[in-house]
Amino acid sequence: MPKNQTAKRKLSHIQTSLHEQVQSHVPTGFDDVRLIHKALPEIDRAKIDLSTELFGHEVRAPLIIESMTGGTPLAAKINRTLAKVAEKLGIGMGVGSQRAGIEDEKLAYTYRVAREAAPSIPIFANLGCPQISREDGLERANKAVDMIDATGLFIHLNALQESVQFEGETDFNEMTSRIGKIASALSVPVLVKETGAGISMETARALEHVSVKGINVSGLGGTSWAGVEYYRARAKRDKLQMELGTTFWDWGIPTVPSIVEVANSTNLKVFASGGVRNGLHIAKAIALGADYGGLALPILKSASSGEEAAAASLTIVIEELKNAMFLTGCRNLNDLQKAPLVITGATFQWLTQRGFDPGKYATRTTESAKGT
Ligand SMILES: Cc1cc2nc3c(=O)[nH]c(=O)nc-3n(C[C@H](O)[C@H](O)[C@H](O)COP(=O)(O)O)c2cc1C
Repeated sequence: MPKNQTAKRKLSHIQTSLHEQVQSHVPTGFDDVRLIHKALPEIDRAKIDLSTELFGHEVRAPLIIESMTGGTPLAAKINRTLAKVAEKLGIGMGVGSQRAGIEDEKLAYTYRVAREAAPSIPIFANLGCPQISREDGLERANKAVDMIDATGLFIHLNALQESVQFEGETDFNEMTSRIGKIASALSVPVLVKETGAGISMETARALEHVSVKGINVSGLGGTSWAGVEYYRARAKRDKLQMELGTTFWDWGIPTVPSIVEVANSTNLKVFASGGVRNGLHIAKAIALGADYGGLALPILKSASSGEEAAAASLTIVIEELKNAMFLTGCRNLNDLQKAPLVITGATFQWLTQRGFDPGKYATRTTESAKGT
């Protein structure tokens, strides 16, 4: 694809996501999960500790701004804003697919601005499967990492998006072993993320076997990439692609079942994303076995109003997480990973049919609660 096509496509993704209704119609499953309220929390909210380790970096909250953009001047502005906010709050972030910056050195600055604005936080590089599966895949991966002095590389899986779009690259043959080759040769950890359709236990296990160090589930229930591609097809009056986008709008594994599947079947670090919209969602995700939460679209929207607005919306998320921890009597994230909860509805049915025991979370006890 010509270089300026990639940049144009990136710009249209940002604009479509900001101005159209690109949300999936299927729930994430967070509403099916209820943490058990502790009327006597027996802790001081002011002393709750949200800090954790994120691939060698201490972060002040278990949170990342999801991989989103790069490759255009607007994207550079957004990346700088997001990075300043992440640095201020002491959380992690990802940049969007770095293909544009690798193919055209003049665009590398649109990603590098993130590291310049955030020298101390974990920042994740990003490439798609078609990029790493080329002959020069390892070279590309190294370039992406060096470009932003990255903490790790997210390889994103977007078979759904590729399958419904005009320029889709749909040869996923032997992709697991190709990812494995990069994972065993790269100097920083390789993590794999979906882009809104979730990751199953089978896929997660296969990735763990090839040296991948973390999974970002990016499940169904948030931004729909079939939805984004539907609007792009409509602008081009392409009926076939419009139909594909509509039919597959809600395709995938909802975020909550995906978290449970991955966390229960691997020892990998788990990022919960896809329709994560507040700190209570992150608390539920961590209680279900995730290590970190991530938000994309809501932060893109607030960042388009500036740094202060983005910082304010993420501060609310952090305070909501802390509040959920207070009301469940959790002093720290280790406690939260053992907080009791009940799973109902469609998520209960999903997990039961997939061989899990949703009841196992209901009667467990946190360390701090054992003495009370
Ligand atoms: C405008 C936009 C661009 C995105 N670009 C990328 C990308 O380049 N690489 C990637 O791995 N994910 C990308 N994503 C997916 C997000 O990282 C995230 O996994 C997904 O949007 C689900 O999160 P959300 O529901 O909070 O938006 C993008 C999302 C948005 C909204």
